[in-house]
Amino acid sequence: MTIDRRHLLLGSLSLPVFTACGGGGCGSSAAPTPAPTPAPAPAPAPAPAPAPADVPALKTYFASNFKIGMAADPNGYKNAIANPVILKHANSITAENAFKPDAIGRTAGSYNWATADELITWASANGIAVRGHTLCWHSQTPDWLTTGTAAEVRTKLETYVRDVVTHFKGKVYCWDVVNECTSDDASGAYRNSKWYQILGADYIEIALRAARAADPDAKLFINDYGTEDPAKLSRLMTIVADMQARGAPLDGIGHQLHVNVSWPPAANVDNALRSVANKGLINHVTELDVSLYNDPGACYSNKSSCLADVTGDTAALATALKQQALQYRALFNVFKQHPSLQSVTTWGIADNSTWLTGFPTNRGNLPLLFDKTGGAKSAARAITDDAYQPT
Ligand code: G3I
Repeated sequence: MTIDRRHLLLGSLSLPVFTACGGGGCGSSAAPTPAPTPAPAPAPAPAPAPAPADVPALKTYFASNFKIGMAADPNGYKNAIANPVILKHANSITAENAFKPDAIGRTAGSYNWATADELITWASANGIAVRGHTLCWHSQTPDWLTTGTAAEVRTKLETYVRDVVTHFKGKVYCWDVVNECTSDDASGAYRNSKWYQILGADYIEIALRAARAADPDAKLFINDYGTEDPAKLSRLMTIVADMQARGAPLDGIGHQLHVNVSWPPAANVDNALRSVANKGLINHVTELDVSLYNDPGACYSNKSSCLADVTGDTAALATALKQQALQYRALFNVFKQHPSLQSVTTWGIADNSTWLTGFPTNRGNLPLLFDKTGGAKSAARAITDDAYQPT
């Protein structure tokens, strides 16, 4: 991911700024000392907001709509808080990092299967299907793969994709064959990545054909972020049209949907899903999370002007979590309207572990459906109970 450009795809709305009056700092110190009187009884502490009632298993609740997935590596799903959550709610898992080229193909000529195989074994034992993420990306890819002449790089790409997809044949139901290949600006449809510089748009077709040859039953995806932005979606659809004109075996589009409490409008997501379906392709939502922050662009480019951490501010946090619940509800209401949408994955299991505590800046963030103890958040209830009013 080209982090400094990513902000261009995000909205510019900001969360309201909240102030809290506490710590005894709001009273006057100028009044004369009053006669001693009995100290008033301390005001009772406000009752904590009631935890939302537990929610039904999401994989059951949405069984007629789509698979419910969560992203984790073995150290994530083995965590005592996350483990019961994923076992109850998910029937799909995506390895957050263990299937990436820098994990499996770190060294030319040898493969590191151990962590990925551990995930496959655990998922199989628990009846959870596996999304493969990812085979060809400009990030988290060792240099050896993109070093050499165009012919050599082509062969390396074909060999890597063939070997990895063959290793997992029959155990992975779909692959993000190519990740984040769309340009973030209007200079062209394709990201000017090393793969593109060496092989042009052919690299996507090469990877798709190699994957199809290795496992004809796995569904093959291009996965990207920012499809909720109409301009970026348009560039992605140019790539789709190009691949379809070539007869490349592309089955679907993965929409990452790293969104936030106030961006995007759900109608943008509706538009993205419809555009893909109109091309005869499957939709997957692959990396859903709803950040508490709609940061300005400068936060993404140089970590300045990032919104303040709200997680220690009771009132601000309550407002953000209510917005988050409404955003999750709006998105799932759109998801349910699209028969072409076959899988919805959150990028993480519960708020005790999320990449968003380090991106775009180090800050508390609570972007998932389940809280740091594994409990259902208002967002989880909002998507499973239409009558529920998030407060
Ligand atoms: O494995 C090393 C470990 O050996 C080392 O001790 C440690 C020290 O920092 O780093 C570990 O690697 C980190 C890795 O996550 C595993 O934890 C990397 O530094 C870190 O960069 C990496 O971040 C991942 C990121 O992709 C890399 O681009 C995030 O966990 C992961 O959530 C994120 O996922 C991406 C999707 O693949 C594609 N879409 C965007 C999404 C969010 O960025």
